[in-house]
Amino acid sequence: MMNILITGGAGFIGSHVVRLFVNKYPNYDIYNLDSLTYAGNLENLKDIENKPNYSFIKGDINDSEFVNSVFKKHKFDSVIHLAAESHVDRSIEDPLAFVKTNVIGTMVLLNAFKNTWKDDFDNKLFYHISTDEVYGSLGQTGLFIETTSYDPNSPYSASKASSDHFVRAYGETYGMPYVITNCSNNYGQNQFPEKLIPLFINNIINNKALPVYGDGNYTRDWLYVQDHAIAIDLVFHKGKNKETYNIGGFNEWKNIDLVKLLCRKMDVELGRKNGASEELITFVKDRPGHDLRYAIDASKIKNELGWMPSVTFEQGLEKTVKWYLSNEEWLNNVISGQYQSYYEKQYN
Ligand code: NAD
Ligand code: TYD
Repeated sequence: MMNILITGGAGFIGSHVVRLFVNKYPNYDIYNLDSLTYAGNLENLKDIENKPNYSFIKGDINDSEFVNSVFKKHKFDSVIHLAAESHVDRSIEDPLAFVKTNVIGTMVLLNAFKNTWKDDFDNKLFYHISTDEVYGSLGQTGLFIETTSYDPNSPYSASKASSDHFVRAYGETYGMPYVITNCSNNYGQNQFPEKLIPLFINNIINNKALPVYGDGNYTRDWLYVQDHAIAIDLVFHKGKNKETYNIGGFNEWKNIDLVKLLCRKMDVELGRKNGASEELITFVKDRPGHDLRYAIDASKIKNELGWMPSVTFEQGLEKTVKWYLSNEEWLNNVISGQYQSYYEKQYN
């Protein structure tokens, strides 16, 4: 038996992690704590919501009284912490919201975990989910390794870097067992259509412009979300205390090349003439502080824990496109009035 708190489980990556743990470990009690911001959606977990080992707790990780009461009641053995504000463009508009949830919220959880177990952390674990963006930007060559210096450039990455430091500090100062993983860009089903791939899928469906920032020559490493969830399961069970593991897809793409590939796939799926979606590409004003290139060296998790991505980018993208096309209701539900006003502000 284990009582595990997963934060942010109604979001994109969190929902895949919750599903994997609930289905794979019927003897674990999985509690999903999520405040259901614009990015959180219980529709993502419809298929497992009635499982006996799953519970949903609605609440804000910034609310220390609430978080402490939940820890007092459930005495979680482990925390897998994914709740966060996660979109770079939103962090440029409202940096403080990112400090609140990503820094203060993480601190609230760390304190609640520390106060629950005091000095007896036997078989306990605080697993913090982070991003490769904390390392800043690479030039045309090189890869991020676990010891690359932190050099965040956006309010989002600065808030995630700060939270990573606090997790480490609690490990050193209070002896709290922890692991941190820093992952590259995820894609797949259930991603909110503000991030590049689902935004562009939605725009192609609706014949809207595809706003490529700058010249499109920015590079990201892409990982299929279910492979990230598998990596999290592995690190949770086999990762070494106080270690960081980088997770990546061994899969670098320039934005413009990725967008063209996506356009070709969408043309095929929608039965449109080859080249139709590419005509929607529009180069727009660049994102301020736009990181040129992220690329992960994931050889530590590969060599020490035996993890590798299970699908190729072609396969993952195909699954993703098909999922969005056959889940139009999900897509239409999340494109609410709030999404429309975000879109207007960001792109017009
Ligand atoms: P997401 O934005 O899709 O989901 C975030 C979830 O957290 C939502 O369900 C939201 O309701 C919840 N949440 C936000 N603020 C909260 C609060 N104050 N209290 C409780 N719940 C709150 O994010 P995601 O893309 O699934 O990312 C999950 C984690 O993985 C984040 O920590 C992110 O930094 C990290 N990460 C994401 C990526 C990526 O490509 N998406 C890559 C690497 C790391
Ligand atoms: P995004 O999905 O926001 O992830 P991140 O900023 O965390 O890497 O963006 C991925 C890349 O796509 C990034 O280089 C910014 C670019 N991008 C666009 O060109 N246009 C857009 O409308 C968006 C959302 C992103």
